[in-house]
Amino acid sequence: MKINLNTQFPTTGDLIIPVLQTNTLVDQLTDLARKLDLSVAVLQRDFTADAKEVLAAYGPNGQKTYLLGLGVNPQEMDWLRVFRNFFFNQKSKLPAQLAVDLTAFDGSIVEGVALGIRGGGYDLKLYQTDKADGPIFFSDSGELTLYVTNEQKATAQKALTKAEAIHQTQRQMLDLMNAPANHKNPQTLADWTIASGNQYGYKVTILDKAELERQKLGALLSVSLGSNVPPVLIIAEYKPEGVENPRKVGLVGKGVTFDTGGVSIKISASMHLMKSDMGGAAAVLGTVEVAAKLKLPIHVIGIVPATENSTDGRSTKPGDVVTAYSGKTIEIIDTDAEGRVILADGMGYMVRNYQPDVLIDLATLTGNVIAALGYHAAGLFTQNDELAAQLTQAANQTGEQLWRLPLWDVYKEDIKSDVADLKNYSGKPIAGAISAAKFLEVFSEKHPAWAHLDIAGMAFADTEFGSQKNATGFGIRLLIAYLQTQIVKTQE
Ligand code: BES
Ligand code: MN
Ligand code: ZN
Repeated sequence: MKINLNTQFPTTGDLIIPVLQTNTLVDQLTDLARKLDLSVAVLQRDFTADAKEVLAAYGPNGQKTYLLGLGVNPQEMDWLRVFRNFFFNQKSKLPAQLAVDLTAFDGSIVEGVALGIRGGGYDLKLYQTDKADGPIFFSDSGELTLYVTNEQKATAQKALTKAEAIHQTQRQMLDLMNAPANHKNPQTLADWTIASGNQYGYKVTILDKAELERQKLGALLSVSLGSNVPPVLIIAEYKPEGVENPRKVGLVGKGVTFDTGGVSIKISASMHLMKSDMGGAAAVLGTVEVAAKLKLPIHVIGIVPATENSTDGRSTKPGDVVTAYSGKTIEIIDTDAEGRVILADGMGYMVRNYQPDVLIDLATLTGNVIAALGYHAAGLFTQNDELAAQLTQAANQTGEQLWRLPLWDVYKEDIKSDVADLKNYSGKPIAGAISAAKFLEVFSEKHPAWAHLDIAGMAFADTEFGSQKNATGFGIRLLIAYLQTQIVKTQE
C-alpha cells in the first residue's frame, strides 16, 4: 500500500473523515452533512465522536464515507491508536483506494495517522500455513491519499517521511519480538543488525563468544552457560557525517531471546511469553536504525548483550559468584534475575569504551514494575533531573509513557552481598524494580547522565493483533523524540 499526500479533494475511493468530540459537534456534523450530501439527522443521531467510534454513511452516488471519532483533544498516541484500530478492524472491507480528509487539523498529526494506518496492517500470524490472501487495501495495489491543504503540506510531508521510516523499522522489531525461541537466537539479532548497518551506512561490531571470553565479559557469559546457542555482544554505532562534536548518546538494551529463569526456573503458566525478553534490544537496535535513516545529527551507540537464559547441567547456579567486565563480582542469588547481570556487562562495555554524554538502558527487567505501574507506563530511574525532564517530555509527546521511581541509597541495602561486591537479588518480594535499578547503577560507574527504563509491562502487552500478549515496539518513538531534543543542544 502506498501513502501519498494530495491537496485536491479526493474523488475516487472511500473517504474517512476524523471528527473531534467538541461542544460544537452538532455544527460540525451539520457542515459535514451539507458537504457530503447526507442526512444530517442520521449523522447527529448516531455519532458522538468518541475515540474509535465509526459511522459509515453512503452519499447519493453510492460513495462510502466513514466518520471516525477522535474523542476529546487527541494527542499523537490517540491519533495512532484511533487509526490503527480502524484499519485493523475494517481492513477486510476496505477498497484498494481510500482517502483521509485531514484539512481540519494541523499537518503534524500526519505522523500518528500514518503510523496508525500502517500499524493496522500488522499481521501476527507469521507461522500460519493456511492463510488466505491479505486484504486488497494492504496489498501492493492499495493506495491511501492524505488530503491536506497547501498550508499543511510541508509539515505533513515531513511527518509522513518520519512515520514511514519509523514504521518500517518498528515492524521488523515486532516480528523479532513475536518470533519464538526456535526461530530466533542471539545471532539472529546480530545478523539483523549487520544487514541494517550495511543498508543504512552505520558501523556494526559483533563480539562472539570467543571474543567475549577474551575480553572477560564474565557476567554475560555466565547467563549464557546453560544454553546451546552462544551469546553475542552487538555494537551498533551511527555517527552523523559533517557534524562537529555531535552529542554522544549511549543506548544499552537487554537482549534475552528466551528467559526460562535458568536453574531458578520460572513457573510454566506464562513462560512462553518470555520469548519477548528482548524488548530493550528491539528498542535500541530499532532506534539506531531510525536515527541512521533520518540522518539525525547525533552520535548514537547501541549496545545489546544478547543471550538465552536456559536450564542445563552447565547453567550458572544460585550462589555462584561471577566477575563482570568492569571487574566487580556478583553473587547470583537467583538465576532468573539475569537481565541486570547481562546489562552489567553491556553498560560496563559502553562506559569504558565509548564514554557517552548520556547513557540510557532499556530492559524488560522486572515483573515488579508491572505490579507497580501496570501496562500504562515504563519505570524511569535516574538521579539526573534534567534527563528525567527530557525523557518525560519525549514520553508525553509520543504517548510512550514513563513514570519516575526513586533510586534512593537506602535501597542499596537490598543488593549487599556477604561474599561478593554485590548480589543480584534481595531475596524479598518487595521494591524489586528499584533494587534492580540500584544494581544497574553500580555498572553505570557514576555516569552523571544515566537513566534506566524498565519496560517489562510496555514491550509486550495486549493489543488488537491477537488474544495473547504481543509486541508493541515500545521505545523507538520515545527515544527518537528524545534524540530530537538533543539536536537543539548540539547546535547551541
Ligand atoms: N524477564 C523477567 C522480567 C519480566 C517479567 C518481563 C514479566 C516481562 C514480564 C526478568 O528476567 C525476571 O525474571 N525478573 C524476576 C526477577 C526476580 C527473580 C528478582 C522477576 O521480576 O520476577
Ligand atoms: Mn528472568
Ligand atoms: Zn529476563
